[in-house]
Amino acid sequence: MRIVLLGAPGAGKGTQCKRIVARYGLMHLSSGDILRQERAAGTELGKKAEDYMDSGALVPDDIIVEMMAAAIKKTPEAGFILDGFPRTVNQAVELDESLARNGQRIDAVLNLRVSDRVVVERLTGRRSCPQCGAVYHVKNLKPKADRLCDNDGAELIHRSDDSREVVNNRLKTYRQQTRPVVDYYKKNNTVYDIDASKDADQVTSLVLENLDVLVSV
Ligand code: AP5
Repeated sequence: MRIVLLGAPGAGKGTQCKRIVARYGLMHLSSGDILRQERAAGTELGKKAEDYMDSGALVPDDIIVEMMAAAIKKTPEAGFILDGFPRTVNQAVELDESLARNGQRIDAVLNLRVSDRVVVERLTGRRSCPQCGAVYHVKNLKPKADRLCDNDGAELIHRSDDSREVVNNRLKTYRQQTRPVVDYYKKNNTVYDIDASKDADQVTSLVLENLDVLVSV
């Protein structure tokens, strides 16, 4: 299965991906996580990306397309779920063309829908583990021990792009550049619209309902 998970910043893409991958043996490829790893490692790619990320703008398409093509090459036979990519129509076209060269295509697109109000509340309250990437929320999903990751005990951080001001910029970028990607996929692919304002378990049930049907056909 080759799946794309779309949605505004903070819609819950990362949260849902982590719950889905184990069930189907898919690899989770998050463009944001890969970029953050590159930044932490101080690579050329990471350095090129940092100013865009810190302001809430998109990293240029050529950098992202090359980075994600390399990551997709390493995915298992069972397939992958893309989180945060593609984020422009140009990226979606490039992805389709590159898959088509190997006789492949995207099997399904899940579109997580939430209001701006929910996005701001979720992102300003998000806390992330700098080591394993687990995400928590100060109200909705607290770690067992205050400010420490349940998995590895690392001190949780508040991502620098989760400030109110940058979140507003990310939402603007999403509306202008990423929302058209939903319409692009609606022309040629099956797109499942999912109400992602429900609690995380309910959203997971909706996602799995759709994917289980896909697996059974
Ligand atoms: P990226 O890391 O992809 O950020 P994003 O898309 O803005 O998404 P997030 O990771 O912030 O949110 P999410 O939807 O995964 O939500 P989460 O599950 O964490 O990208 C960062 C930057 O990298 C971009 O701004 C850009 O500069 C660059 N970039 C990345 N990809 C790019 C590309 N393709 N092209 C160009 N540039 C690119 O949940 C959020 C919070 O809500 C958490 O606290 C969680 O616990 C909570 N939560 C989740 N679900 C629920 C629920 N159902 N109910 C209550 N709380 C919930």
